[in-house]
Amino acid sequence: MNIVDIIVKKKEKKELTRSELEFAFNGYLDGVVKDYQMSSLLMAICLNGMSDLETFNLVDIFIKSGDVLDLKNIPGIKVDKHSTGGIGDKITLIIGPIVSSCGVVVPKMSGRGLGITGGTIDKLESIKGFRVSLTEEEFLNQIKDIGFAVTSQTKNLCPLDKVIYALRDVTGTTDSIPLIASSIMSKKIAGGADKIFIDIKCGNGAMMKDMASALKLKDIMERIGKYYHKETICEISDMNIPLGSNIGNALEVIEAMEVLKGKTGALRDLSVKISKEMVAIAKNISLSDAEKEVLEVLDSKRAYQKFLEFVKYQGGDINSLKVSQYTDEIKASRNGIVKTINALNIGRLSCFLGAGRVSKEDMIDYSVGIVLNKLVGEKVEIGDTLFTLYKKDDNKIDINIDDYYEIK
Ligand code: URA
Repeated sequence: MNIVDIIVKKKEKKELTRSELEFAFNGYLDGVVKDYQMSSLLMAICLNGMSDLETFNLVDIFIKSGDVLDLKNIPGIKVDKHSTGGIGDKITLIIGPIVSSCGVVVPKMSGRGLGITGGTIDKLESIKGFRVSLTEEEFLNQIKDIGFAVTSQTKNLCPLDKVIYALRDVTGTTDSIPLIASSIMSKKIAGGADKIFIDIKCGNGAMMKDMASALKLKDIMERIGKYYHKETICEISDMNIPLGSNIGNALEVIEAMEVLKGKTGALRDLSVKISKEMVAIAKNISLSDAEKEVLEVLDSKRAYQKFLEFVKYQGGDINSLKVSQYTDEIKASRNGIVKTINALNIGRLSCFLGAGRVSKEDMIDYSVGIVLNKLVGEKVEIGDTLFTLYKKDDNKIDINIDDYYEIK
């Protein structure tokens, strides 16, 4: 078998066999297939898609590249959650503490930023000392002890997703339904949870730009979950405007903590919605009973305390969170109401500031990002600060406000 023939076959829109997929993907993990060859194959998959059979085979190859966690000895139903990625989406940092405070175990395997969308692992690394690569034993002990842990793909857990994910991030190959489905579902199945909740983001700041693609992704992920005997619920949520106010790694951890301490708004609303669904499927109770439990742990700050416990357990020093001292306030030049905020352009700007990667070797600057001072529906007067840039240095950045905010 030859990798070039496999690339050409996909370029010609033909179906790859299981052994061709194994040859290409396992070969990449082993270093036999090179970055430039895998980039080319990923682009051909992005452009020409994959059949269901190819996608199911790819999920299985990803899973078998590492171990599958056995959580049978952990009491209760274990529910995992994943987002397909959006701008300002720090929901995992909020729902993990909420749902585990309700007594439901949340074993979470996460990824880094992908394209312009942020990743939970990068966000957590903005906390000094936070360990994102747990061994299997550490992961199991932690979920037994405190009910919630986050680990990245490691040498033992979905290593193939880790390397493919990093390559997709910098080769414009993120927005492919079969690649997203295999990346997410392999992590979720290897993570060992009984039930899986997927938040599919849809809109200009997401990988799924329209409802038809979001529905396609939902369908294939639910079928993959079923095949592996995991109840999988996919819900579609809007990503035409950023989620919450803060975009950027440390800034997003800060906002997650604010919500756990009582901040209201769209971010809290979506966190409550997802949390109650997770609690309801885990405990087999009604959504309204689940909501009562969720609001109780939020309002009593038990979920906030759980967040602090989780950070400390994984070695993080929450007092170390740092945002850049170099800021620019972008002011309104007209009166009106904020009609919309362009998630795509805000995500691009955040990456440009240094919160995301352009090449695999890029180091993220955890302290940079954007705070939206005015949100959709708010009244604006000339001179009000619309948003604040947290930059890596004092250099001026030219901003055309109309690219980000529509004010009418
Ligand atoms: N999240 C993942 O883990 N993988 C993707 O491909 C997209 C979002």
